[in-house]
Amino acid sequence: MQFEFENPTRIVFGAGSLARLGEIVARYGKRALLVTGGGSVKKSGTFDRAVKSLADAGVEVFECSGVEPNPKISSVRRGAATARENACDVIVALGGGSTMDASKAISAAVFYDGDPWDMIYHGQPNPHVPTKALPLIAVPTLAATGSETNCGAVISNAETTEKSFMSTDCLYPKVAVMDPELTASVPKDQTAYGVCDLITHVTEVYLNAADTTPLQDRISEGVILTAMEYGPKAIANGNDIEARAQVQWAASVALIGWTQAGAGGAGFPVHMIEHTVSAFHDITHAAGLAIINPAWMRFAAKSNTKKFVQFAERIFGLTAKGPDDLGCALAGIDRFEAFLKSIDCPTRFSELGIDGSQIETYAKETLRIINDGKGNLPARPPMTEADIVAVLRAAL
Ligand code: NZQ
Ligand code: ZN
Repeated sequence: MQFEFENPTRIVFGAGSLARLGEIVARYGKRALLVTGGGSVKKSGTFDRAVKSLADAGVEVFECSGVEPNPKISSVRRGAATARENACDVIVALGGGSTMDASKAISAAVFYDGDPWDMIYHGQPNPHVPTKALPLIAVPTLAATGSETNCGAVISNAETTEKSFMSTDCLYPKVAVMDPELTASVPKDQTAYGVCDLITHVTEVYLNAADTTPLQDRISEGVILTAMEYGPKAIANGNDIEARAQVQWAASVALIGWTQAGAGGAGFPVHMIEHTVSAFHDITHAAGLAIINPAWMRFAAKSNTKKFVQFAERIFGLTAKGPDDLGCALAGIDRFEAFLKSIDCPTRFSELGIDGSQIETYAKETLRIINDGKGNLPARPPMTEADIVAVLRAAL
């Protein structure tokens, strides 16, 4: 096991921590671009409280609102222009993963003279990967992506029907202000999708990684068990701040880098396939994951049975006849799918009105954006185009 790890994001966690936003932002700048989504933070009163905290700390606010779910590059261009015009020196992201991801891209786009879409990974070594960005303070209002404590940003381009990412050190938020009270207004469906997203972030590593990851596995199992215990409570009662807090911390831990360190490059195949389907249909990210992940698991379990048996035993308490008991592995996947259904996540494309007519295109597009140099999607086992088609077909 060899790895290099650094996550420089300072975490300020706890109910009420929004009140500290101004004081925290003022350490980094005096002219803040405040980025928000489609209006939820205005409805909940979070926006006004954030603005007041910033004003009290002497921070001037310039607004970039209207970032859409599956954030579009057009919003990044708009945000960067506003930041430049107003000489903003710090970015504040107040919203879900979409708002935080757009904010990250804006923070780098401010320093880039060309079109910010150049900075996105397109399947070839990219000379425009950003190396410089304005300081970003992330204030998540939805527990899901873990974007607040990682350096990834996923951006969509409606003109090219692409959804891809940038992931580089300068995009780590300086501070994540994680106030679980801000997530109390998240509706039941988005809460459930968040639970599905965070679980998928760890299964992508757990089920694709090298075998020698005992600690990483147990961190992942802790994340999954915590999400499965507190997720349904947060869905049942949105004002259960204890449950909201547990889910929010689980979402952050899931993608903060701890499970990936030393895991040998996991590939995230379910995400890569989902991003393509999202690019075509603009579906909610984790609704796509809930559909693709069980189908992918049934495909991968045949060749990586041991790890799936471990998943079945440790997460669902099943008892295998031995480490190669495929029946037990598949029973664990059935139980996982049943959990997703129990929190009302879709598990088949037909539930979203997506048919199989473009499946071959999704597979080709996924491999165009990311492949291992031999034409396969990095995963365990590596996936050929035919494998991706088969998984998508099984999910119809
Ligand atoms: O836009 P507003 O009005 O704020 O409403 C949002 C949106 O409709 C709403 N919402 C957010 N906070 C709320 C709230 N509603 C009520 N009360 C609140 N407190 O929820 C809806 C979904 O928001 P969005 O930000 O799109 O959700 P999420 O956090 O799940 O982010 C999804 C995006 O993140 C990307 C996804 O691909 C997708 O584009 N991802 C980013 C990752 C990363 N940066 O690390 C990793 C993930 O795997 C993922 O790919
Ligand atoms: Zn995700």
